[in-house]
Amino acid sequence: MKNLTYKEIRTEYLKHLVEHGHQEIPSTSLVPENDPTVLYVPAGMFPLVPFLLGEEHPKGKRLADSQRCIRTIDIDEVGDPHHCTSFEMLGNWSLNDYFKEEAINITVSFLVEKLGFNPNELYASVFAGDKDAPKDEESIRVWKEVFNKHGIISDVGGSGKRIQEFGKKECWWELPEGGPCGPCSEIFYDTGKEPCSKQCNVNCNCGKYLEIGNNVFMEYLKKDGNYSPLGRHNVDFGGGLDRLAMISQGVESFYKTDIYKPILDKVRELALEELTMSERVVVDHIKAATWIIMDGVLPGKSEREYILRRIIRRAVRHAKKLGIEEMFTRKVAEVAIEQFAVIWKNLGEKKEEILSVLEEEETKFNSTLAQGLKEVEKMVLQISSGVFNNSNGESFKLYETHGFPPEMLIEELQNNGVKVNEDLFWKNHNKAFEEHQDKSRTAAKGLFKGGLADTSEKSKRLHTATHLLLAALYKVLGDHVYQKGSNITPERLRLDFPNDAKLTDEQIKQVEDLVNEQIEKGLPISWEEMSKEEALKKVPYAAFEDRYQDVLKVYTIGGEKPFSVEICMGPHVENTKELGRFRIIKQENVGAGIKRIKAVLE
Ligand code: ALA
Repeated sequence: MKNLTYKEIRTEYLKHLVEHGHQEIPSTSLVPENDPTVLYVPAGMFPLVPFLLGEEHPKGKRLADSQRCIRTIDIDEVGDPHHCTSFEMLGNWSLNDYFKEEAINITVSFLVEKLGFNPNELYASVFAGDKDAPKDEESIRVWKEVFNKHGIISDVGGSGKRIQEFGKKECWWELPEGGPCGPCSEIFYDTGKEPCSKQCNVNCNCGKYLEIGNNVFMEYLKKDGNYSPLGRHNVDFGGGLDRLAMISQGVESFYKTDIYKPILDKVRELALEELTMSERVVVDHIKAATWIIMDGVLPGKSEREYILRRIIRRAVRHAKKLGIEEMFTRKVAEVAIEQFAVIWKNLGEKKEEILSVLEEEETKFNSTLAQGLKEVEKMVLQISSGVFNNSNGESFKLYETHGFPPEMLIEELQNNGVKVNEDLFWKNHNKAFEEHQDKSRTAAKGLFKGGLADTSEKSKRLHTATHLLLAALYKVLGDHVYQKGSNITPERLRLDFPNDAKLTDEQIKQVEDLVNEQIEKGLPISWEEMSKEEALKKVPYAAFEDRYQDVLKVYTIGGEKPFSVEICMGPHVENTKELGRFRIIKQENVGAGIKRIKAVLE
């Protein structure tokens, strides 16, 4: 095994893919554009959904990148050696080009030739087949050849075998709301530890095997819970850069790799106590927060903003456990930014902004905690029996409203002479928490409903109408207008743009009329590829200059003298006639100088 730095592995990967005919594409922002189906990009494939469904990508059929991702589903598990909230996913894609044989070989040659993995330490999983799709015989054949080539016996089956078969739960990949999907074949690294039991297999959590990469063979489309052939054979590969660095450097947790270690050292320097789990949470969460703030999110109450708030506050709580009483977020974030700014230059450029957002949230949370303490004093007075069982889930309410940590509540009550039955306390706390989770899961499900991930016709129409709306706003309000944010569901579109004053009724009417005129004209919609330089010259309201790739798709609505020209990846309808009637239903203020319009097509 070669001992490579995080950045070296990243560079080697992209180089390897270019050698195999891929074009490198930039990572998108963590905040999905135009898509309401997830709050943060959870996987490298996410920004590519339209292309996996068949849109042409300006860079061709073989793409590769290292995409910033956020996964907060198991945020409470962060702290183990190999789970993190924010990470880079190495990705390569075949858009209806190569398939299983080449994909698996590309991955293995990267691991073995470029990173120096011993093939004997690699294991694979394959899809066993079920009612929706047959057993993945092709991947089994390819894996056998790969292992045989290296002189390794490749037996197929269950625990202990070189190629292990699994069902949908382990060996199938899809987004929560469906879309392009298919069986996958994961690659595991055997750490050499003893198996935990006879049943120990590559998907066991005991730590013997680590998943390091996953090839998804996207031949299916999931819609309304049913699978049908996609009519294309895509490959979606995702690899964990942090884990590869950990293995390459021979350390037992990614916090000890070259890129994270200085952040961990800083936390240790500030801490009075040594608590592995809390140290890791502080490192992981502060680093994740710097990335999220870099991508323009501020801590707040609505869904996306609330996730950031939770991440920061959880870091503050764990810092307290480590005995860090001083303001610390700035100090830790400075190191995190320095470490990752060599890859993400925006981190360096936005450093001061990021640090002050963190500090402000830390200050707010500290005062929230002080308020929580007052609530605890009141509680103490009300507990006449001298015993506290948490029977109404009070601890959870206190946590929800004041962010007051339940373990701190136990301590405070005990300090005030109240006896706490800890078993009952936690049982009741967890019960209240689960009830709340059920509610938020239902809410999250609503959120997944039909975004661009399923490219429904309704979403396509609304997305096209957003182009018309933006062009109309530009014409009516002036050239300070650009798309600050957009979010489309099959029911409505939503567009955020800078404008100091709210639009007058007259301006709203002007905008609606302009859009409806274009719809009535039946304007054609076309696109062409051009360089970023050309595109920026052509498009009056281009935003986020630094996030565009060097070859772009530019969509034009209206032929020779177009009404709208916009940099966009699609998808769109072909003619404005298809849109129906456009109506603005709501206008809101969403922060300093930013207005939000919601509109429908009737
Ligand atoms: N999309 C696949 C994953 O996240 C590669 O595992």
